[in-house]
Amino acid sequence: MAVSKHILLIIGGGIAAYKAAELIRLIKKSGMTVRCVLTESGAQFVTPMTLAALSENEVHTTLWSLKDETEMGHIQLSREADLIVICPATANLLAKMVGGIADDLATTLLLATDAPVLAVPAMNVRMWQHAATQRNIAQLRSDGIMVMHPDEGDMACGEYGPGRLPEPESVMREIVNCLSGETGVHGQNELGPNPLDGQPAFAPNQHRPLRGKHVLVTAGPTHEPIDPVRYIANRSSGRQGFAIAAAAADAGARVTLVAGPVHLPTPAGVMRIDVETAVEMEQAVHDALPADVAIMVAAVADWRADSQSGQKIKKDGAAPATLKLTENPDILAGLARHEQRPALLIGFAAETEKIAEHAKAKLEKKSCDWIVANDVSGPIGESVMGGTDNSVHIVTGTGTEIWERLPKMEVARRLIAKIGEELA
Ligand code: C5P
Repeated sequence: MAVSKHILLIIGGGIAAYKAAELIRLIKKSGMTVRCVLTESGAQFVTPMTLAALSENEVHTTLWSLKDETEMGHIQLSREADLIVICPATANLLAKMVGGIADDLATTLLLATDAPVLAVPAMNVRMWQHAATQRNIAQLRSDGIMVMHPDEGDMACGEYGPGRLPEPESVMREIVNCLSGETGVHGQNELGPNPLDGQPAFAPNQHRPLRGKHVLVTAGPTHEPIDPVRYIANRSSGRQGFAIAAAAADAGARVTLVAGPVHLPTPAGVMRIDVETAVEMEQAVHDALPADVAIMVAAVADWRADSQSGQKIKKDGAAPATLKLTENPDILAGLARHEQRPALLIGFAAETEKIAEHAKAKLEKKSCDWIVANDVSGPIGESVMGGTDNSVHIVTGTGTEIWERLPKMEVARRLIAKIGEELA
């Protein structure tokens, strides 16, 4: 990473604004320079003094500063950056960007810039999930703005779900990613001319570590029907797999997500195929090949009912009905033997004891490249399964890494970063 890169950091108004202070520290530590723009609502949460002291640069707060305009006009401010980072990016700020509204310094800079822009959203979970916000995110992405996925977990407002600002270390990694792939001035690249105006295509996403790769993810449980009203299931929520699909899409991959029955929204930019049973999941996985990377996160039911009753089974006998089971196909092991085996094949392992030992055995047994093992022991409701956090062992052919308790989105981001390094 060149030491001379310059970041323009826009701090929006949200409780997460305090984390911008840590981000500034990390940016400075990496050898880059940073200049801050604080919105009016951002100034309700952090002071210009704090930001100035940490950034060792003047902090800009208004479009109407005569001093700033004579020394460095807002257009110059928007152009001198190698990357503009909006952290936290509020729902309001994102909506204004979509509409091209320029009614304060931050939004005017964002409209005037030709630098790549990275938005790091943070907001209440309902605001994040609102159709308007999701529509705006999709629009911004198609406009070439990089938008990070928020973390999921407890929020300052007392609710929990997706909407938390990612940890500053994650944002920093994303900044480095954005800058390291840049191939031309201010994100312009050698993709060739934009067919609309003949100008070089503005594609700041070009640096994405998984750009051009097809990533196949399975997630959630499977439901194995017994009769028309009953089925065999497990407690998998699908959250970890969905987070991985989201992080892979953020990293520029084409993502196919084969999902068992879960109640989760489809991450932006992800192609989702819903299935119910293990047999259907296996078929959908094979149909999606070829893939460069397959990450099998689904908690596939090991068994299904040997035969399915066409009618609801009655409890009218003296003895309870006997359920005869048959083994389901092992999708992961099957993929390892497949003639179109993905170059990187990753399995998950839910363990309740001897995590690393069992994971290593599973790596061999299933002939995959990595196993991501998690400890699913613990009482129902507090277990990793169905919860928002995860702590994992990553077992590869060369060793084991342990990632202590992290939000599932953060686990996903780190895993995708590791995959990017492996493919590079
Ligand atoms: O054998 P076990 O269920 O512990 O293996 C877990 C890994 O294998 C996960 O990656 C899971 O998605 C995958 N698996 C599969 N098909 C099965 C069972 C597990 O793909 N029938």
